[in-house]
Amino acid sequence: MAIIATISSSPSVPSRTDAVLDYVTKVLGSHGHTVTPIVLRDLPAEPLLRGRADHPEIAAAAAVLETADAVVVTTPVYKAAYSGLLKVFLDLLPQYALKGKTVLPLATGGTPAHVLVIDYALRPVLTSLGAGSIGQGWFVLSSHVRLYDGGGLLLDPTASVPLYQVTRSFLAAVAGEPTVESAPVQVAAVEAVRARPEDPESAPLLADLVVEYTPRYGQTNENTQLTEVPSSDFHAERDGAFVLLRYCGQTLAGGALRRYDEHTAEVKQMWTSHLHRRQGLGRRVLAELEAAAVDLGYRSLYLTTGPRQPEAAALYLAAGFEPQFDVEADPESIGPLAFRKELPASNDVALKVAS
Ligand SMILES: Cc1cc2nc3c(=O)[nH]c(=O)nc-3n(C[C@H](O)[C@H](O)[C@H](O)COP(=O)(O)O)c2cc1C
Repeated sequence: MAIIATISSSPSVPSRTDAVLDYVTKVLGSHGHTVTPIVLRDLPAEPLLRGRADHPEIAAAAAVLETADAVVVTTPVYKAAYSGLLKVFLDLLPQYALKGKTVLPLATGGTPAHVLVIDYALRPVLTSLGAGSIGQGWFVLSSHVRLYDGGGLLLDPTASVPLYQVTRSFLAAVAGEPTVESAPVQVAAVEAVRARPEDPESAPLLADLVVEYTPRYGQTNENTQLTEVPSSDFHAERDGAFVLLRYCGQTLAGGALRRYDEHTAEVKQMWTSHLHRRQGLGRRVLAELEAAAVDLGYRSLYLTTGPRQPEAAALYLAAGFEPQFDVEADPESIGPLAFRKELPASNDVALKVAS
């Protein structure tokens, strides 16, 4: 596994650039890499401005870079360039401080007109510092990053999906593997399989959900770690089900259900890989879970989703679930958002299939 240094170069707190980096850090960690952060605004200002590379804290930051296999460099766009804080730090480094390292450049900015800052301003200096390979960077519009009071962040899918993809491609470059592509799947060839949470095929689903939840809610608890429900609740012998969508040996999406009450099953752990969103896979998982619930004799489905999962709420509404809350209200003021859906009786389904 690699040691990956991250450079945070916004002077602001809270920082949208740091929020983007937080998300990327979770992805890196979920793939087993060690992440060592360098937060430039926490370095002593005077030695930084005076170019004192021998100051112990600055030397320690440079040493973190030296020992890293790869580096994520992040910056807000200021005055059509990378931040001054990043500039003073890069100026302190030896000429080839990034020699042989794989680098992922990321920026946030207020206007898409400045998306080229990564390639026009940042990439040349990273090249000059000897970076071995500089992957495709990504520019996130600051309006696509929502920060919550008290911690937590929500990235618009137009930001989080490509950000996930460039991060995976960066990791592939670090490992010397081919770039991860997110080509559309052949939907007809996607297979729905019944599994258990303990199966190796389920691991991407469970790992990715933790990555998804932790930055959004800004905390680690039973909900974000998926430990609030024992995984045995999803076993068939306990009237549960765990469905995965598999394609070419990969797990693309999945979901689970467990007993909620005598006639109701609760849907949990709904997930679609970031590399395969917007292809109807979430709807397919729900349809498979509905069929499983009917087979198990349930008459209705119940679920809750968090207030910071607008894409999940949209999926449930589109799939015919009835919201049990005021859809006009701010989800943050509600907390968990409950949905319900009545199911056809199993003999109705059999008749429909036969006709
Ligand atoms: C002093 C200053 C200059 C900025 N200049 C630009 C700019 O030239 N182009 C742009 O797209 N955004 C510009 N912005 C907007 C920031 O890039 C954007 O809000 C960014 O997400 C801030 O990141 P942060 O919260 O990590 O500091 C500027 C913001 C500040 C405070």
